[in-house]
Amino acid sequence: MNHRHPYGNVFYRRMAHDHPLIVHGEGVYLYDQEGKRYLDGCGGALVANIGHGVQSVVHAIAEQAARAAYLHASLFTSEVLERYCAELARICPLSDARFYPLTSGAEAIEAAIKLARQAQVERGQSKRYLTIARWGSYHGATLGALAVTGKGRMRELFRPMIVDMPHIPPPYCYRCPFGLAPMACSLQCATVLEEEIIKQGPENVAAFLAEPVGGATLGGIVPPPGYWPIIRDICDRYGVLLIADEVMTGMGRTGAWFGIQHWDVQPDILAIGKGAAGGYFPLGILAVRGELIDSIARGKGEFNHGGTFSHHAVGAAAGLATLNYLRENQLVEGVSHKGRILEKLIKEKLANLDVVGDVRGMGLMWGVELVQDRVTKTPFDAELRLSQQIADEAFQKGLLVYPGSGSVDGLRGDHFMLGPPFTITDDQMEEMIEIIRQALKLRARRHPGETRIV
Ligand SMILES: Cc1ncc(COP(=O)(O)O)c(C=O)c1O
Repeated sequence: MNHRHPYGNVFYRRMAHDHPLIVHGEGVYLYDQEGKRYLDGCGGALVANIGHGVQSVVHAIAEQAARAAYLHASLFTSEVLERYCAELARICPLSDARFYPLTSGAEAIEAAIKLARQAQVERGQSKRYLTIARWGSYHGATLGALAVTGKGRMRELFRPMIVDMPHIPPPYCYRCPFGLAPMACSLQCATVLEEEIIKQGPENVAAFLAEPVGGATLGGIVPPPGYWPIIRDICDRYGVLLIADEVMTGMGRTGAWFGIQHWDVQPDILAIGKGAAGGYFPLGILAVRGELIDSIARGKGEFNHGGTFSHHAVGAAAGLATLNYLRENQLVEGVSHKGRILEKLIKEKLANLDVVGDVRGMGLMWGVELVQDRVTKTPFDAELRLSQQIADEAFQKGLLVYPGSGSVDGLRGDHFMLGPPFTITDDQMEEMIEIIRQALKLRARRHPGETRIV
């Protein structure tokens, strides 16, 4: 069935995809105009943390929009913005946290690396401008965020247009970049940061940036226990600010309010996005340790960064209502429990399939990596676009999963992520796993000596 809309004036990223027109969403389900139901197994892009159609959020948005929708942030503030940020400070691991709300994850990352630079200049470290990041990362599509993103396929076309920031290898234990055995290594993936800082010259390095649990590019990689404490220690010794990209992991996705809290490490700067307002408003937030903001306030007196829609009152209303909903229904507390059930289901029902090489993740953020051969870990040819094929097959069957590729070398390597709303029930998780199992069985059949995609 062709769902193409009769007006036809919108262009989409996936131009060949036939976009069904959604008319209604409720809980973990979306419904299109033909009445077809889709189980949202990945919250879109791990965004719909509280599910669809939550009326308290809808009302909070409408109420604030009716009261005063747009207030220019250089001139005004609003009760709802002040209250929201005070509530965020109660759950945020930064000491004396201050918040700068924006409108996307990429914007929060751009603002984070700019703030790190400005804070270093305020400290008298005016040469420090580099942000070291990791290969196999995703930090957003705008040019500054792309400069720190470690994903070859996304960077290639725009490489001449970006300042090429340094990258270190990720803690990708399934394919250890150092060829070491997981958990029996000396955490070279962390100690290599020190080598990179020395190589770049510590006087040039403003910050280190990474996702606490790897998201879209590597699909749910969880670093070994000592990783983050070593990173924090190296940053401290070289005067480098630590930025945690919590755009995907933040606001409860991993079973803690923020992913970094699993390692008891305090960053200097956080980027928040995606689930902060559950998709009801495009909200991205820069969070910063208070002392850094105080030093800028005493120095230049203003953050050298702005945006027409920053500090949006309606965004704050959406964020606050989402936070209240999460708290009132104790949804973050439930993520770990549900995550264990989901992990068990994935391991029992998917991990035994020939094409499944690795299962990794935590909370309600799981990645499944697909391989041609489980012993050699040989990836599929990139041209097959297997993860997209599998996501398309699941889509036909009424399930949304989040496909990803490039984990091996920026091009090869297929995985998909599961990251449903925190409200998902056990039965719905079973339904989700059954559909993806069928999609995997149908789309990826291994034959001796060759791989045939059906
Ligand atoms: C970890 C991480 N950082 C940043 C971003 C960019 O967020 P946005 O797409 O809202 O700009 C994403 C989006 O997928 C992400 O997963």
